Amino acid sequence: MTRYRPTVVEVDLEAIRHNVRLLKPPGVELLAVVKADGYGHGAAEVARAALEAGATRLGVALVEEGLGLRERGIAAPILVLSELSRGSEKEALAAGLTPSVYTDDGLGGLAEAAGAIGRPVGVHLKVDTGMHRVGRWPPQAAPAFARSIVEAGLVLEGLWTHFAVADEDEAGTREQLRRLLEVRDALRAEGLEPACVHAANSAATIRFPQTHLDLVRPGAAIYGVDPGGGIGPRFGLRPALTWRSAVTMVKRLPVGERLSYGWRYELERDATVATVPVGYADGYRRALGNRAEVLIRGVRHAVAGTVTMDQLLVDCGDREVAVGDEVVLVGAQGDQRITAEELAAHLGTIGYEIVAAIGERVPREHVG
Ligand SMILES: Cc1ncc(COP(=O)(O)O)c(C=O)c1O
Repeated sequence: MTRYRPTVVEVDLEAIRHNVRLLKPPGVELLAVVKADGYGHGAAEVARAALEAGATRLGVALVEEGLGLRERGIAAPILVLSELSRGSEKEALAAGLTPSVYTDDGLGGLAEAAGAIGRPVGVHLKVDTGMHRVGRWPPQAAPAFARSIVEAGLVLEGLWTHFAVADEDEAGTREQLRRLLEVRDALRAEGLEPACVHAANSAATIRFPQTHLDLVRPGAAIYGVDPGGGIGPRFGLRPALTWRSAVTMVKRLPVGERLSYGWRYELERDATVATVPVGYADGYRRALGNRAEVLIRGVRHAVAGTVTMDQLLVDCGDREVAVGDEVVLVGAQGDQRITAEELAAHLGTIGYEIVAAIGERVPREHVG
């Protein structure tokens, strides 16, 4: 479809490759987490770039996401990070998706579907070591469950867990790792040795080499989104995403005029006000009005007044601005940069949510 609106997300695939190369420890596999359309960056394109840079596997949250990657011609192993939705097993296995498993019901559904596939099906047993979202709990119950997996005719290819506090709590992360390794050792004692034991998300990949095991599983960091506390930029990660638009209208308004819905922004002096075609329907949150800044001609300007569904206003003061000028909402312009983390701070959230929430209405363009 022809694009007429100048609003676009540009994703620098060379930044993705750089981040993957930086994150992949020698001798350890890297699974690139590309769920939620690659954290809003475009799953298939990111997956290809990550694989080119040394990733050997991909991770998704949903069967649908895995099938979407297969439709786009991606043949690499894809781990579904939660159990397959009931009813999806046959299609998922036929597409060669690798299931996670942790409940008796889930195992039952898988075993039935695997029987119809006619070739060995490898699965990854997920252990809940303290996150308490999904996974076999308590960890001491995992070895018996592993035996059921094997008895059901499936191949125990992986054993894994997910960290809850790798960005902030070393002792907590060590304890989760200890619980996982206890399961691994118990399995070993029974002669069961999953080829792939894994735990590390982005923060653990960067901060705790002892968690690398057979494979690291970063998401945010491959996009250059900070996993927490500024560790991403300090590690040398490069943000891959630029969200830009362009000025569509410019007005000179007198002191005292108030802007946008609710008239919540009043000009304290005569000012040039620019209109930008980005709104909360694109994922630029309404609460950013009167808080965030954008870049025009390399200068920071305030987002003035309420962000509307499709447009926002910018107070440019006495600076020159013209229709067609580039507006950067996230990313760099001149020597200025607005990070996803900066927007997140205005909203009491994390950079992950900012990039993942950019709407489908905004086209993704891939460069590099
Ligand atoms: C199971 C699992 N592994 C890995 C990741 C990647 O985490 P991060 O983006 O913090 O690296 C996620 C993302 O939330 C996840 O759910």
